[in-house]
Amino acid sequence: MSQAVTIELGEGVEHDARALRNAFGCFTTGVTVITTTAADGRRVGLTANSFTSVSLRPPLALVCVDLNSASLPALDAAGCWAVNVLHAEHQALARQFVQKDTDRFAGLETETWRTGAPILPGCMANFECETHHAFDAGDHRVYVGRVVKLRYDPDHEPLVYLQGRFRRVHVDAE
Ligand SMILES: Cc1cc2nc3c(=O)[nH]c(=O)nc-3n(C[C@H](O)[C@H](O)[C@H](O)COP(=O)(O)O)c2cc1C
Repeated sequence: MSQAVTIELGEGVEHDARALRNAFGCFTTGVTVITTTAADGRRVGLTANSFTSVSLRPPLALVCVDLNSASLPALDAAGCWAVNVLHAEHQALARQFVQKDTDRFAGLETETWRTGAPILPGCMANFECETHHAFDAGDHRVYVGRVVKLRYDPDHEPLVYLQGRFRRVHVDAE
């Protein structure tokens, strides 16, 4: 039997938020770590699945960051950031970049390219971006970035996120 839930928004804020989160969670995404450098040189990063490609000409991509995120001031001040696309073996890294009150970069060697944003090696893809446009939408800030450098290595299995859980993609044998 179908477990489908239909809800008209506006009935009750808490109920809406849970239903909306559950419904959004039905959209499978990849998992990234967004990185930047704070004014004092500290490396800053957070796990994010809101990464989306926007445009090929010019090359634009976006990420949405919670207005309560501690990374927000560094993202705003730097005006540049990197999107590091994780692969299936990166689940621990994805969890590491959510943790509070720890050095999320402990033991991690990072590269720098053109802007100084930390680049995580061994990722499925990296996009170095300069902020093209940033605006607030509800409880998140949307950063649209112009991609200035990229690297990709499709010879990996992706890390995916669905309904609040990390998962792997099942590929049928041909
Ligand atoms: C799979 C996954 C995806 C996430 N996606 C986002 C996102 O797109 N935007 C965001 O602001 N937080 C996202 N988060 C939550 C942040 O990673 C988390 O709140 C982090 O602690 C924020 O760190 P900060 O406050 O130091 O910036 C995600 C968490 C997980 C586990």
